[in-house]
Amino acid sequence: MDDQQLALRPGEARCPGPSAHDLIAADPHAPAPLLEQSPLFLGDEDVPFANYSSVELARAENEHMWSRTWQWACREEHIPNTGDYRIYDIGDRSAIVIRQADGGIAAFHNFCLHRGTQLKPSTAAGGRAKVLRCPFHGWTWSLEGNLVDLPCQWDFPHVDREAYDLPQIQVDTWGGWVFVNFDPAAPSLRQYLGVLPEHFASWPLDDRYVEAHVLKHLPCNWKAAMEAFLEAYHVLETHSQAITATGDANAQYDVFGEHVSRFIHTVGTPSPHLDPQPTEEQMVEFMFARRYPDAADRPQLAPGGRARELLATEVQKRLGEKYGRDFSHLSVSETVDSIEYFVFPNQFFFPGLDKSMCYRFRPDGDDPSKSIFDLLILRPRPLDGPAPKPPAPTELTVEDSYTLCAELDRGLAMVYDQDTANMAAQTRGFKGSVKRAQTLGNYQESRARHLHHTVARYIAGTI
Ligand code: FES
Repeated sequence: MDDQQLALRPGEARCPGPSAHDLIAADPHAPAPLLEQSPLFLGDEDVPFANYSSVELARAENEHMWSRTWQWACREEHIPNTGDYRIYDIGDRSAIVIRQADGGIAAFHNFCLHRGTQLKPSTAAGGRAKVLRCPFHGWTWSLEGNLVDLPCQWDFPHVDREAYDLPQIQVDTWGGWVFVNFDPAAPSLRQYLGVLPEHFASWPLDDRYVEAHVLKHLPCNWKAAMEAFLEAYHVLETHSQAITATGDANAQYDVFGEHVSRFIHTVGTPSPHLDPQPTEEQMVEFMFARRYPDAADRPQLAPGGRARELLATEVQKRLGEKYGRDFSHLSVSETVDSIEYFVFPNQFFFPGLDKSMCYRFRPDGDDPSKSIFDLLILRPRPLDGPAPKPPAPTELTVEDSYTLCAELDRGLAMVYDQDTANMAAQTRGFKGSVKRAQTLGNYQESRARHLHHTVARYIAGTI
């Protein structure tokens, strides 16, 4: 550590080499949101492994956190017609998210007001209904949630139908996503999302369609699963196949308020760990070799040119031809970097010019060492004709490799498999390690610390 670094306060040290911000700030096309820097240092104390393994904590999360936070339940295109519905289960709760006759969307608690039976089964595919009829004794509600049929009404003189509307759940939309919040007193979705709508103003997700949906069961706590996607610190060791042209340790980490954080992981620039550093020509070869096996077909680097800029030009041209749009006004970062926003408690959105990946993580039953990962890939809607209908999810067991999903690029599938292997190994450590807590990096793992910090605040009732 040099004198300059020793003079820094905790959380201020950065990896030597051009940072993500250095690269973005040098680009005249860079949009204002990408020029923002908002690091957050919340201390350097160890985080207990019990945060991942404690049944009591999982119960507290269920009671105080999942019950009060906005979570996406589906895409708007999952429920295009009157009566189309999706079920969103989280912990003990279950929501029916259903399209109304007036085109609006409502969400109801998915349990009968007679004796509690779940009204619609928890299938990922959802369905279409004219009414909501309980499968036990047939009490029936309209799509608006009014009790419209009560068999043997004579036996229930004490039931005032007006007082037996299905309880509603807060519902709202952003970017084509349908969000629910089980807390009737929760702040609005707009308030909750903070900077997100403003940052995504030029990366609209509502003009996208769902190309792929993978539902994967994971061998770890939902927070541990998410943490694989909150930092690029692990790229050097876990995804070393990528470091020739990704800036891993020079990535940028930001926290925007209570619910939103971001990383910007640069592409077309080498890992600062590489010694010697690859030349620009070597990075061009690395990035284009798979697409253009014959070197003569590859885009050519101009004298003094940068691999990163060449990649952006090539991507903008290729996507312009594919989608019939002009992308040349976009910055290099928007075009090629891995930019990822996290919205507490469990969702990720990548602006991704061609492929926007969106994630959601949830506990899988009562075992805090299991979770469910929904991976959706969105693509720009075609300019002509309707967008393809959203596909049914491809469900993968804990043991299944992502490479079984034909809809996933093989390289990407391998990356997810590498992450899953870490999750299983880490969970062993949560239970068996002599050291009972994890030690986090002050900057690169600041988003993971912020996650635990925010969960604790919900449980304590300070949010
Ligand atoms: Fe639903 Fe009886 S439990 S109608």
